[in-house]
Amino acid sequence: MRPKKKLSILKRIKNSRFAVDLYYAFIDRAFRREHAAVVAGKLAHIGSGATLEAQRFLLRRNTHRLEKGLIMRPPKPVFALDYIGETVAAYERVATADACEAARVEEFAWFTSVLGRYFAVVGEAPQVAGFRDRFKRAGANPVAGEGRSVPYAASTRPDNAVAYGDFLRLCQRRRSVRWFQDRPVPRDLIDRAVDAARLAPSACNRQPFQFVVETRPAEAAKIGAIPMGTQGFSDNFPAIAVVVGDLSAYFDERDRHLIYIDGALAAMQFMLACETLGLSTCPINWPDIEDREKRMDAALGLRAHERPVMLIAIGYADPDGGVPFSGKRSVEHLRRYL
Ligand SMILES: Cc1cc2nc3c(=O)[nH]c(=O)nc-3n(C[C@H](O)[C@H](O)[C@H](O)COP(=O)(O)O)c2cc1C
Repeated sequence: MRPKKKLSILKRIKNSRFAVDLYYAFIDRAFRREHAAVVAGKLAHIGSGATLEAQRFLLRRNTHRLEKGLIMRPPKPVFALDYIGETVAAYERVATADACEAARVEEFAWFTSVLGRYFAVVGEAPQVAGFRDRFKRAGANPVAGEGRSVPYAASTRPDNAVAYGDFLRLCQRRRSVRWFQDRPVPRDLIDRAVDAARLAPSACNRQPFQFVVETRPAEAAKIGAIPMGTQGFSDNFPAIAVVVGDLSAYFDERDRHLIYIDGALAAMQFMLACETLGLSTCPINWPDIEDREKRMDAALGLRAHERPVMLIAIGYADPDGGVPFSGKRSVEHLRRYL
């Protein structure tokens, strides 16, 4: 249907939510891919079909909730009774798979440390006795780092070594760069940028995303050409990252936007880190268009509950390549005090 025709229908039905529902159910299927991915994520998260990955997301969220309970003022003698059962059940399942996997040791030590602290704080509360015993049995092997990954005083965080002026300069330095040198991007620099990105805030600390990275220029250029907005310059991308969100992190539709928020926050940190490592980047829009989604799914081997959030072209800037001035809105226009 032509955009003009769509607009005229929307104008007529705008005051009826029911009519709008019908419109998007039968006339315009713009939301169907998101609906399908949200449903796939929910089914992977809940009940007997819950995947191990989804259990990790649940455990990450609940461990975060326990930490908030542990820092509460005034302290509560007993808390988390409504979710400690599902937390210990997820811990039992994850412990079997993760306790010895090198890349998961840090995460697993956090689960173990916080649960250990929780049971120490709630003491002999009879409501949690059974869960305490199950937790102890599940984590029987010593875990590297156990006991250390617990709440700490704000004053013991690392010193701030970056002055505002230096940070502002980094922000001025980072611009969307579209022309790159014909020079490979070392994977260890990508990993260092991801190491900074993983420290970004994330709702309930779930971190429901991955940076899917291609560092072979010919392949990177192919992936970079899938979205719109890269025509004419995708051929020169030396590397590309696709930020992929995982909707199996959620039990409820209300959280479906968090893959975009969390993914974008991490992407920003990634891009700034790249700049400190001598690399430049260009964020790239991901349009929700059927045939492009299919091509991206095939290129990356995405699962039904995974969705591309955005792309980031990465490389060494061509010193002679133009950079748009990209005038910014003023502070006065970007903030409004109440
Ligand atoms: C989510 C997002 C999508 C973008 N998509 C594209 C794109 O498809 N093609 C492109 O050339 N630039 C894209 N950009 C870059 C913007 O054009 C650029 O950020 C903006 O003009 C401001 O310039 P600056 O990044 O240099 O500050 C995108 C940026 C963002 C944040």
